[in-house]
Amino acid sequence: MQMGFCLNQMLLLVLLSAAAAKTQPMSKPNCPTKCGNVSIPFPFGLTELCSLNTSFLITCNQTLSPPIPFLNTTQQSLSSPFHFLNASYEKLRVLNISLDGQLHVSLPVATSCVNNKTGESDNQFFTITFDTPFHLSSKQNKLTVLGAGTVGLVSGQDSTSKTPYAPTSCVPLNITNTIYNNTHDDSCSGNFCCETPIQHRLSEFIYICASNIFEENYTKPYQSHPCSYTFLVKEGAYNFSMTDLINFNRTKMFPVVVDWAVGNTCRAAQKNTSSYACKSKYSECHNAKVGPGYHCKCSSGFRGNPYLPHGCQDVDECTEESHDCLKGRSICINSPAGSYSCSCLKGYEGDGKINGSGCVRRSNRKIIIAFSVSGSILALLGGTLYVYCTLKKRKLNRLKEHFFQLNGGQLLQQQIGRYSGSNELTKIFTVEELKDATNNFREEMVLGAGGEGTVYKGILPDNRTVAIKKSRISNPNQIEHFINEVILLCQINHRNVVKLLGCCLETEVPLLVYEFVPNGTVYDHLHDQTKSFRLTWKRRLQIAVETGGALAYLHSATHAPIVHRDVKTSNILLDHNLTAKVSDFGASRIIPLDRSELTTLVMGTLGYLDPQYFHSSQLTEKSDVYSFGVVLVELITGEKALSFDRAEAHRNLGVHFLSSMNEGRLLDIVDGRIIDEANVEQLMVVANIASHCLRMKGEERPTMREVAMELEGINTVEKHQWEKVNLSSEETETLLKAPPSSSFSVDGVNRRTMLAGSDILNRISFSLTSGR
Ligand SMILES: *[C@@H]1O[C@H](CO)[C@@H](O)[C@H](O)[C@H]1NC(C)=O
Ligand SMILES: *[C@@H]1O[C@H](CO)[C@@H](O)[C@H](O)[C@H]1NC(C)=O
Ligand SMILES: *[C@@H]1O[C@H](CO)[C@@H](O)[C@H](O)[C@H]1NC(C)=O
Ligand SMILES: *[C@@H]1O[C@H](CO)[C@@H](O)[C@H](O)[C@H]1NC(C)=O
Ligand SMILES: *[C@@H]1O[C@H](CO)[C@@H](O)[C@H](O)[C@H]1NC(C)=O
Ligand SMILES: *[C@@H]1O[C@H](CO)[C@@H](O)[C@H](O)[C@H]1NC(C)=O
Ligand SMILES: *[C@@H]1O[C@H](CO)[C@@H](O)[C@H](O)[C@H]1NC(C)=O
Ligand SMILES: *[C@@H]1O[C@H](CO)[C@@H](O)[C@H](O)[C@H]1NC(C)=O
Ligand SMILES: *[C@@H]1O[C@H](CO)[C@@H](O)[C@H](O)[C@H]1NC(C)=O
Ligand SMILES: *[C@@H]1O[C@H](CO)[C@@H](O)[C@H](O)[C@H]1NC(C)=O
Ligand SMILES: *[C@@H]1O[C@H](CO)[C@@H](O)[C@H](O)[C@H]1NC(C)=O
Ligand SMILES: *[C@@H]1O[C@H](CO)[C@@H](O)[C@H](O)[C@H]1NC(C)=O
Repeated sequence: MQMGFCLNQMLLLVLLSAAAAKTQPMSKPNCPTKCGNVSIPFPFGLTELCSLNTSFLITCNQTLSPPIPFLNTTQQSLSSPFHFLNASYEKLRVLNISLDGQLHVSLPVATSCVNNKTGESDNQFFTITFDTPFHLSSKQNKLTVLGAGTVGLVSGQDSTSKTPYAPTSCVPLNITNTIYNNTHDDSCSGNFCCETPIQHRLSEFIYICASNIFEENYTKPYQSHPCSYTFLVKEGAYNFSMTDLINFNRTKMFPVVVDWAVGNTCRAAQKNTSSYACKSKYSECHNAKVGPGYHCKCSSGFRGNPYLPHGCQDVDECTEESHDCLKGRSICINSPAGSYSCSCLKGYEGDGKINGSGCVRRSNRKIIIAFSVSGSILALLGGTLYVYCTLKKRKLNRLKEHFFQLNGGQLLQQQIGRYSGSNELTKIFTVEELKDATNNFREEMVLGAGGEGTVYKGILPDNRTVAIKKSRISNPNQIEHFINEVILLCQINHRNVVKLLGCCLETEVPLLVYEFVPNGTVYDHLHDQTKSFRLTWKRRLQIAVETGGALAYLHSATHAPIVHRDVKTSNILLDHNLTAKVSDFGASRIIPLDRSELTTLVMGTLGYLDPQYFHSSQLTEKSDVYSFGVVLVELITGEKALSFDRAEAHRNLGVHFLSSMNEGRLLDIVDGRIIDEANVEQLMVVANIASHCLRMKGEERPTMREVAMELEGINTVEKHQWEKVNLSSEETETLLKAPPSSSFSVDGVNRRTMLAGSDILNRISFSLTSGR
């Protein structure tokens, strides 16, 4: 009995001491080392004293079983069109922490389910903001989207460098194949599932799932699978299966890889020993591959936690059998300075290592030397080659980074100015007057309905025909602003702007009274073959000149520039002479809409939105210039700003146009209806103006005034056409092949990815505008 106890105790002691020798301290003394089964190594800690600072504080929820660690993230207001919808996630579950600068956390799944009756979808999103030491690991995570016809999108920025990135998105869709059946294969190849790597190191980001957003003529996918899902996941941690479409656990969380680092740079940190994080004597400092920040590593031959004073401890290679001493011929000798040596048995010489000179009998000396010399020359050559290659690779990466920064776009700082009204009075209509005018808002009087409201035709007592717009419910706080805007709009007097005659404020929703423009929109005439007049090239040019002039006029308004914010062909009306009249100036837009109407988050629609809006959430005069560029392209090509008839990469007309132009294929995409009559020289000039308007960076786009003047110049050319000598065909050829601008060829690639992102949001807004 006594004997047995003693033996047990001894065994325990032996085991314990062995364990103590093997485990290096990972946390500060007297600090908990684990939360549940997850190790929490310093600089992370479960209390403030146990962590490097509060950024590395992990909260351990002990009431859960097993206890679960969480990383604190902050509530944020992301510069994004979605910022006013709440869904920020403040605690992320930590799956594991690695001292080489990464940790795994789990992120929730954004879901979007469609109501089978109404066709409306409940789009969900999450916003996440990491504290400064953390960011999503670039290239190790991917965006995965499940569900046909669903847009999944992740967008954000690096909060330390304030670099906003182009959104990453993908859309699983094959129009011929949208209804779930379990005979499809399980590859995530694009029909029901798509995935795309997230290339950016985001630290503030949003991801969104939006389903049923296309108005295209195909069987609605939600009839077979009502819910769609978007999530971020570590590469390889999710395998798609068709059954996930109908049988997905939406409360599931997916692991993502997060990078972490301390401080700024090694050099800066080493100057100040008190804040230098590599506390262990046997540690080394390495700058993070993508800055800022550095990592500490135990020197070779040591192991443990380099962030703690005695964290790195010698590895006993000899007892661990991790040495490469020749078995049977040499003996391993550990050195506490982090290394070991092999000593050859008597009668043999050499370094005793398998990959070294080994142990040989003393007599064979010469051959060994020859061998080792040639060996070291080889090693030297190899080493040089390696250094050369890594340097070259680094240079390439830096170049890429440079272009990336160049093209990432800068935040537009300019605020859209507020303009105050003058004394001129706006006609205030009574609700009775307008009820009479519209036969009590009869259905027959409806001219159109969209995301912003319903438009009625009305006849005033003085027999004037007007268009009356019933906006969506307004926010009472905005009323004053609304009135100022109405007063301002009433003062605009330009033959190419639809005149606002007055408003009625007696109803719950303000009513706006406009001049009636009888002949529909430019959009109808370009795209609806059944009721279109033939828009000749000459007429299209005229429309471009008139619209450009109207926008230039508004941008140079006396008090402050008036930004249209929604330039598109469906907002350009045609009167009985087919004179263009720009409609829908801002007024309806200042009224915030409710959550279901993502439309106004984006304000612009279809393919017209300025891609910089993603970063700035602001629309400026230069955004109008961009949208106007799309209108020009639409007039040239007769194609819709967004179309599913074009291949994926060309769905956005702006992108489609720029790439065709870049490849010298402009004539291929000119509208067949005008190609015979159009003057190639004029076409080229308009195309060039359009490509300048479509430049990525707002500041590189011309002003609306410059655009309008150039367009008017062409018109004079047109009038004197017969006096002009035609360009030789050779000259035309070179013109057609010339890239639209020198900057374009540099940033062409990123421009495309960026536009693809804006394309997605445009689609979201598109579907919501149209009819729901
Ligand atoms: C911790 O436990 C959970 C389940 O209890 C398991 O999924 C996970 O892999 C474990 N993590 C580690 C680091 O052992
Ligand atoms: C721990 O988790 C439980 C269950 O989710 C929750 O009710 C509780 O508030 C959490 N405790 C802390 C300290 O976060
Ligand atoms: C999370 O971080 C924020 C900001 O640093 C801080 O105000 C908050 O108290 C922290 N929450 C927890 C639970 O540590
Ligand atoms: C906003 O937050 C509340 C409370 O956290 C939640 O019930 C609600 O669903 C959230 N709304 C949205 C749109 O996510
Ligand atoms: C950390 O967790 C992730 C996700 O669960 C897993 O893939 C990875 O292997 C883990 N790493 C370590 C070092 O345990
Ligand atoms: C769409 O699906 C059909 C039927 O499965 C297939 O034949 C076709 O190739 C797919 N189209 C694309 C573009 O993947
Ligand atoms: C399932 O979809 C595939 C591909 O579109 C089609 O060929 C097949 O006929 C469908 N099966 C059923 C049972 O509808
Ligand atoms: C949609 O497709 C159906 C069948 O191909 C066709 O009859 C219908 O006219 C189309 N509708 C539109 C608006 O194109
Ligand atoms: C949704 O509606 C379609 C037809 O409109 C029907 O075939 C389908 O069964 C419905 N799905 C559910 C889940 O009700
Ligand atoms: C996904 O599939 C690969 C290859 O078939 C497999 O190695 C991996 O473990 C799977 N991952 C998951 C999360 O099932
Ligand atoms: C869904 O996943 C959560 C978390 O992983 C789990 O707790 C829950 O039991 C799952 N539900 C179903 C129905 O599988
Ligand atoms: C904590 O330290 C990290 C790395 O040195 C730093 O980036 C972060 O700003 C610090 N956090 C606080 C709250 O001081």
